[in-house]
Amino acid sequence: MKVAIVGQGYVGLTISAFAAEFFEVVGFDSNQKIVDQLNLGRSHIEGVESSLLMKSIKAGRYRATSKGSDIQDCEIVIIAVPTPLTEDRQPDLTFLESACKTIGENIRKSVLVINESTSFPGTLRNFIKPTIERHSSVNLEHLYAISPERVDPGRSDFNQKNTPRLYAGLNPEASKKTRDFYSKFCDELVEVSSPEVAEAAKLFENTFRQVNIALVNEFAQIAHSLGISVYETLDAANTKPYGFMKFTPSAGVGGHCIPVDPTYLAAVAEEHGAPATFIRRANEVNLEMSEYIVKRVAEDNGGELEGKSVLVVGVAYKPNVADVRETAAELVIEHLRGCGAVVSWHDDVVGNWKGESSAPLQGAEIAVVVTKHDSVEDRKIMASAPYVFDTTGKVKGAKGL
Ligand SMILES: NC(=O)c1ccc[n+]([C@@H]2O[C@H](COP(=O)([O-])OP(=O)(O)OC[C@H]3O[C@@H](n4cnc5c(N)ncnc54)[C@H](O)[C@@H]3O)[C@@H](O)[C@H]2O)c1
Repeated sequence: MKVAIVGQGYVGLTISAFAAEFFEVVGFDSNQKIVDQLNLGRSHIEGVESSLLMKSIKAGRYRATSKGSDIQDCEIVIIAVPTPLTEDRQPDLTFLESACKTIGENIRKSVLVINESTSFPGTLRNFIKPTIERHSSVNLEHLYAISPERVDPGRSDFNQKNTPRLYAGLNPEASKKTRDFYSKFCDELVEVSSPEVAEAAKLFENTFRQVNIALVNEFAQIAHSLGISVYETLDAANTKPYGFMKFTPSAGVGGHCIPVDPTYLAAVAEEHGAPATFIRRANEVNLEMSEYIVKRVAEDNGGELEGKSVLVVGVAYKPNVADVRETAAELVIEHLRGCGAVVSWHDDVVGNWKGESSAPLQGAEIAVVVTKHDSVEDRKIMASAPYVFDTTGKVKGAKGL
């Protein structure tokens, strides 16, 4: 069986690596540079080992391409392209649209199309299917299914194999074929009654996280105003064996999912006349955390940051990954610079970002820890500046939320 995977990023390449153990995989990506690197056996994604990629290439079970015609004889086509927000923070389906165009224009026989990209309920039925059909010059009846990706890059305890996978087809045949495909490399498959349920479940999972993170971020501010430790209070609440789940405060949420997916849910809710006030407000609270942190840092430093050298430690959106998409560090830096601080950042996992390079972990007047990678030692952070504000709650001896 030949499988095309459209989009070779975090999700698409991870799936490619697993699927190539059992199928012949064509990894289609519109970015030629990524394609060239992949064909040399060089992975650009944490968790996908270059050696594994090379093994699949040598065995003739994986190759990358940017040529649409290379996917024409595949039996299964998986979509794993970005679904970000537009400038005005609305769902942006342009990548999905162009992936559907590639599929419609190139596929020459009936296939199973599975969408793994995150989007709002109705996307498979009302957007992907008609867009592929519109771009197809031949009259073909494809099967369509959704199986939202739940992978958490950089995480070692849960992966493709042991994370239960939701799925649903537009008809029973699509559902069955989807199950047959994933059951080769996923331990647990959970079929739901419609693609819309699977799409909504994925959005709700990340909305749950967004809202709870906002709640704990708001609580961190309340705890500080009361003069009590937010961490000790959370640990105390967490001794309750039921009805409580501990989230920890931070500089905000980053990455491709948590700051984005709830907005997809809110957008579809509002389109249907249903309220999404809670979701919208949670997003705002998390975005406002960066300003709150800079205010706290300024308060501790004589109310003034003008001209002071500030080192932001960790600019990736979470520990141990190089991903900076929607990172809270960006807003923290923006607010610090808005106060006149002279800001540099240290993050050797990221290396280069927005035309700037990682600065040495030393010599600042103020250090603000936004993300703490395991490779960065506490004592080095504490030695980098006389005043250290830690938003992660992990650096011993630092000031914090
Ligand atoms: N990264 C995650 O942790 C994660 C987890 C769950 C779900 N998702 C969802 O999965 C989807 C993909 O996310 P990602 O993190 O893999 O994105 P990514 O940016 O890492 O990779 C996407 C890839 O698609 C390519 N691409 C863009 N448009 C294309 C097109 N028209 N044709 C072919 N290739 C194209 C890009 O060049 C890029 O290599 C998104 O909907 C995201 O929300 C991501």
